[in-house]
Amino acid sequence: MTEDAKNLLVIAHAPSANIQRMRAAILDGAGAPEIDGVRTRLVTAFDARPEDIWQAQGVLLLTPENLGYMSGALKDFFDRCYYPCLERTQGLPYALCVRAGHDGAGAQRAVETIVTGLRWRKIQPALICRGEWRESFLDDCHALGAQIAAGLDAGIY
Ligand SMILES: Cc1cc2nc3c(=O)[nH]c(=O)nc-3n(C[C@H](O)[C@H](O)[C@H](O)COP(=O)(O)O)c2cc1C
Repeated sequence: MTEDAKNLLVIAHAPSANIQRMRAAILDGAGAPEIDGVRTRLVTAFDARPEDIWQAQGVLLLTPENLGYMSGALKDFFDRCYYPCLERTQGLPYALCVRAGHDGAGAQRAVETIVTGLRWRKIQPALICRGEWRESFLDDCHALGAQIAAGLDAGIY
């Protein structure tokens, strides 16, 4: 790890076994050995604090869609961190991954509304792992983690 490594913060709410596997795939992708300039840290949505965001050069959010919205845990994160972050994190690169049993649009819209307010910068299209579980979701999550970490490492975000 280089001394000036960038911090990629993965903020996840992973209440099911499948979402836990998605989280692991994201972390695995972000931690690829050839990416030596990015330090990836995982924090749960309930535990994430404004200080964690202030120190991050990139954020990856993972949530299920529940009742047409992001998880209550991720909403709790935004409720606690929105104002402490508002003036300090404008332009922060972020990406979103949603596990949705059948839709996902409500969770995506809800997150994007809030991060638009924060003026965070979307660096990848939202990854919506929708419908019946497919093992290929894990490949998509792995690729998302790898792309974001590689982009941070290369300084393109
Ligand atoms: C209370 C509850 C509400 C849910 N609401 C939605 C919803 O609005 N839209 C949707 O696509 N899936 C919904 N789901 C399905 C979850 O997104 C899905 O169970 C979750 O992502 C975990 O999937 P998994 O069992 O494959 O890990 C809901 C699940 C629960 C438990």
